[in-house]
Amino acid sequence: MSIRTATLNGVATIEIARPEKKNAITGAMYKAMAEALDAAVADNEVRAVLITGQPGIFTSGNDIEDFMQRPPGSTESPAFIFMKALMGCDKPVVAAVTGAAIGIGTTMLLHCDFVYVSDEARLAMPFVSLGLVPEFASSLIVPQLMGNARAAEKLLLGDPFTGADAVEAGIANAVLPAAEVVPHARRIAERFNTLPPGAVRETKKLMRRARSAAAVETIVVEGGIFAARLQSPEAKEAFSAFFQKRKPDFSKF
Ligand code: COA
Repeated sequence: MSIRTATLNGVATIEIARPEKKNAITGAMYKAMAEALDAAVADNEVRAVLITGQPGIFTSGNDIEDFMQRPPGSTESPAFIFMKALMGCDKPVVAAVTGAAIGIGTTMLLHCDFVYVSDEARLAMPFVSLGLVPEFASSLIVPQLMGNARAAEKLLLGDPFTGADAVEAGIANAVLPAAEVVPHARRIAERFNTLPPGAVRETKKLMRRARSAAAVETIVVEGGIFAARLQSPEAKEAFSAFFQKRKPDFSKF
């Protein structure tokens, strides 16, 4: 199993553990993460959730091979079920970004409550380079957070950005030396053991209330376009190029 889960001292940890494929997330892994989130919500002993990866890699995003074989086409797709569980999680979610966070690796951070990033980490949303479009309300939230000009660099050009950039943009809380990211994130998560859980839950809900209706609507629109784009010749060229370890050629489109 490439997702490890453990609950310790009030914190449910979800660890992405598939380093041989740079923590690329398959349908089965999304499903395991969604189940872990649902279990954390249901468990009264759990006060917060910690999501982390491996040294040097948080996640390289959707597993491209899995994606090509089982393209997500509906709200029943494993990625959708995971993101729905993450967005619906009423307990604080802390992300410890141990390395590169690509595609959904960055998108999921927009829906966490606290994000701590290793000083070696790079974030990126290279959807356009893959012939795709942003997902899970990132086309709404990223321009809202950093303004259209800087969002265009990230979403239209797919430029990677550092943890410091993520802090400046309001995506992350702090950049830390690699070895300190997980322990620090865990300490933040454990602080919820001494705070009143009902007040935490209601405050989190209130903080998300204004953007949630727009986010849900955007996710549906993005999802339809994303599914169609996955079948596009541009995406097919991008994915083939990735596996053939060559640069994609979009000159004919
Ligand atoms: N899906 C499927 N397999 C992936 C993957 C992904 N998203 N990311 C990496 N892998 C696999 C590679 O195919 C390779 O497999 P192999 O050893 O069988 O050839 C292995 O993981 C190691 O990846 P590699 O590219 O050799 O590592 P790297 O250190 O040179 O680069 C990344 C790391 C993360 C920068 C690079 O793998 C990458 O760009 N991945 C794709 C990211 C992406 O576009 N994600 C969005 C998906 S929607």
